[in-house]
Amino acid sequence: MATTQLIRGTLYHYPRSTTQYHSDLQSFKDGAMLIKDGKIADLGDFSALKARYADVDVIDYSGRVIIPGLIDTHLHFPQTEIIASYGEQLLTWLDNFTFPAERQFEDADFANTMADAFLTECLKNGTTTGLVYSSVHKVATEALFEAASQRNMLTVAGKVCMDRHCPDWLQDTPESAQRDSADLIDRYHGKGRNYYALTPRFAPTSSSAQMAALGELAQQYEDVFIQTHLSENHDEIAWVKTLYPECEDYLAVYEKYHMVRPRAVYGHCIHLSDSEWQRMADSGAIAAFCPTSNLFLGSGLFELSKAEKFGVPVTLATDVGGGTSFNLLRTLGEAYKICQLRNYSLSSLQGFYMLTQGAADSLGLSNQIGNLNPGSDADFVVLNPRFDALTQLRIDTESTCEDTLFALTMLGDDRATVATYVAGQPQYQQQEL
Ligand code: GUN
Ligand code: ZN
Repeated sequence: MATTQLIRGTLYHYPRSTTQYHSDLQSFKDGAMLIKDGKIADLGDFSALKARYADVDVIDYSGRVIIPGLIDTHLHFPQTEIIASYGEQLLTWLDNFTFPAERQFEDADFANTMADAFLTECLKNGTTTGLVYSSVHKVATEALFEAASQRNMLTVAGKVCMDRHCPDWLQDTPESAQRDSADLIDRYHGKGRNYYALTPRFAPTSSSAQMAALGELAQQYEDVFIQTHLSENHDEIAWVKTLYPECEDYLAVYEKYHMVRPRAVYGHCIHLSDSEWQRMADSGAIAAFCPTSNLFLGSGLFELSKAEKFGVPVTLATDVGGGTSFNLLRTLGEAYKICQLRNYSLSSLQGFYMLTQGAADSLGLSNQIGNLNPGSDADFVVLNPRFDALTQLRIDTESTCEDTLFALTMLGDDRATVATYVAGQPQYQQQEL
């Protein structure tokens, strides 16, 4: 395949960090991107780019919408199989479904097969970057990084660390968690498009000794990501109080071990106190809003207005398999409904920003992903918003970006994904129906 191509279609993206979601949206109704060696080399109106690059092959997606690859900031690859498992709230759901499922990932062949299945689902839904929890097993984390590397996907991932309050066949130790995490950092972090995230599952499943061991790594490796769960469920919060009585609240546990900082992504953050919100804001940490999971596990209603009041960056995430869809536009639709219950109108443009440039910016990755800027990696999604009879009725060919995306958040799914490109190559293409 040619390394230089013109991609034609309707382009939407946010070129920079903003809170002005209307005025800072950049759009080209009949637009084009020049893709060269896996990167976006130029961007603008098709007529101008065609004149500038007359000899370059055109891939024509006229009538289709092209957006940056979507960024899912919290999901669990070993939970792909147990998505949509009936009837429990967080702690019993972990015991009954999650831990047995994650046990299978001790087997490298199984982990390889599931890494393929997982990344295929991501790409089919337009997700090109995930912040991914592996299982406790090093081999599973290796399987994920290798599968992502084969597809050239920018991936942030980490081996789950847990040394208590889970079945003993799933436990590591403070020493092995530190040793294995350090080894994975050395082999994968910043290698190709891979990045590492230190991943204590959550405070209840890590002893103080394990938290201290991971805290040492957090201090040693200042630019690695950190991912964990925070303040998701009332029983969980009460449990953390008994396990870490010396800490004033849940966030204080992670603070004690040097984990609250930029590039630290806290999943859920539903029941935080004002003091915790303030300290999150002061630290530069990020809150990942996981709406389908929060509804599915009955965890509660995230307060986006609180995060905004205190100035905490918020990203969106599926939290598969507590979450019920790999599709981030659909996930945004559920975020909209949660915000409605909190008397906050979440616009589709703000949501689109959170799924792209906003996430990339808060993760310190916006020079690579989250936008269609010249110089960024060519990760993008081609959407057909009018993919069935109902969407053809609802979405007009002249609809605005805001209305088209809003309708897709309510009515869309992977049927709207025509193709997903990673570093300039199509890694998913919908078969003709
Ligand atoms: N808290 C600790 N582990 C998990 C998990 O796997 N999923 C969710 N939603 N919350 C958690
Ligand atoms: Zn989770």
